[in-house]
Amino acid sequence: MIILGIETSCDETAIAVIEATGRKVRPRVRVLANVVLSQIPLHREFGGVVPNLAKREHQKNLVPALLRALREADLGFKNEDLRNRTRQINPKSKILNLKSLLAREPELLPLFLGKIAPLRAPRIDAIAVTTGPGLEPALWAGVNFSRALAYIWKKPLIPVNHLEGHIYTAMLGSDAIQKKRFHSAELKLPALTLIVSGGHTELVLMRKLGRYKIIGETRDDAAGEAFDKVGKMLGLPYPGGPAIERETQKLKAISYKLKAHFPRPMTNSNDFDFSFSGLKTAVLYFLRDAEKKHSLKELRPLVAAEFQSAVIDVLVSKTIRAAKKYRAKSIILGGGVAANKELRKRLAEDVRSNVPHSTLHLPSRKLTGDNALMIALAAYISGRRKDWQMVRAEANMRLDSGQ
Ligand code: KG4
Ligand code: ZN
Repeated sequence: MIILGIETSCDETAIAVIEATGRKVRPRVRVLANVVLSQIPLHREFGGVVPNLAKREHQKNLVPALLRALREADLGFKNEDLRNRTRQINPKSKILNLKSLLAREPELLPLFLGKIAPLRAPRIDAIAVTTGPGLEPALWAGVNFSRALAYIWKKPLIPVNHLEGHIYTAMLGSDAIQKKRFHSAELKLPALTLIVSGGHTELVLMRKLGRYKIIGETRDDAAGEAFDKVGKMLGLPYPGGPAIERETQKLKAISYKLKAHFPRPMTNSNDFDFSFSGLKTAVLYFLRDAEKKHSLKELRPLVAAEFQSAVIDVLVSKTIRAAKKYRAKSIILGGGVAANKELRKRLAEDVRSNVPHSTLHLPSRKLTGDNALMIALAAYISGRRKDWQMVRAEANMRLDSGQ
C-alpha cells in the first residue's frame, strides 16, 4: 500500500510517502519521500509557537512540500508534469468546489489551483492526515489540504492521531532512516508507551494493536513544555529541549562549589500521573537566589543537568513501575523529548535491570520530531478510512476517545 502522509499539527509542515506491506504488528516499510519544512527559526523570535503564524506558514509550505515529495517518491510523474500546470483542464464545477473547500485557507488556495489541481492523480492508495491533537488553526491547514486532495484525486482519507504516529515510529528501529527500507521489529503485546512531547506526557497501554488506554498523564506541563520553559529561564533559544541537552555537556568542564537539587514531583504517588510545574518553579527560585552571586551563563550547565536528571528520574521510574504492573512485553519511547540521549540511556539501563523480559523499542533520533512518515505508518497500522467530508481537525483529540 502506498500512503501519502500529511502533518501540520504544530510547527513542522511535513509530507511523506511510504510503501508499507506485511503484518500490522511487523510492517515492512519503504520510505519513498520524507519532507519536513521546519518553521522553528520563524517562531524562535517569539520564544514559542504562534498558532496563527504557524497556520499561515503551513498554507505557504504545503504545496512546495507536496511537489518535492512527489518528485522524490517517483510516482510516475516526470519533472515536466510537475512544472506544466495546464495539462489537465479541470471542469469549472471542480474548481468551484475546491474554492469552497479551501475557503478558509486563502494563502493555500491559489497555490493549490495553480500547481496541484492541474496534475493527474499520483499512484498512491490512500492519504493520511493528522487530525489532532495539536494547534487548531495549524491542524485545519493540513486537514483542508488533505480533503481537497482526496476530492480531486478520488483517494481514501485516513485520519490519524498525532500521538499514534509517535508511538509506532519506534517500530522502525533506532537506526531508521539511515536506510530506506525497514523490516520492523515485531511489536509484542501488551505494549507500554511513554509519550514525551511538547504538548503531551502520557503512559499509554496497548493490549490490542490500535486500542489505547491512558494509564497516566501530566496534570500540568508536558515534559517538553517544561524543557522549553526552563530553557527560556536560562536564556536559551527555543526549543529548550535540545538547548538544555547541549548545556549539560559543558558540566564536565566546570567545577562548582554551588549545588543544585530540584524535586522529583510525584515519583512516589500511587498513580502513573506526572507533574512538572513544581519543578519549573523550583528552577525559578533557585535562579533568583543564585543569580545574586553568579552569572546566568555560569549557572546554565549546573541547572540544565539537574533539571534534566529530575525529569528523567520521574519519567523512567514511573515507566518501569507501570511496565511491571501491566507485565508489558514491549516498552516504547516516543515524541520529541525521545531525542534526549540521557533519557534513552537511562531508560535502556533501567529496563535491562528491572524488566529484562520486556523489549525496549527506541525510535530513531532522526524521527522523534514531528514528521509525516510516522503519520503514514500509523495510517497503515490503523487502516481507519473515513469519508473525506467527515474528516475534521480536533485540537484536543485523545488516544482513548475511540476515534
Ligand atoms: O513531538 P514534538 O516534536 O512536538 C510535539 O508534538 O509537541 O516535541 C517537541 C518537544 C519540544 O518541547 C522540545 O523541546 C522537545 O520536544 N525536545 C527535547 C529534545 N529535542 C526536542 N527535549 C529534551 N531533549 C531533547 N534532545
Ligand atoms: Zn509531536
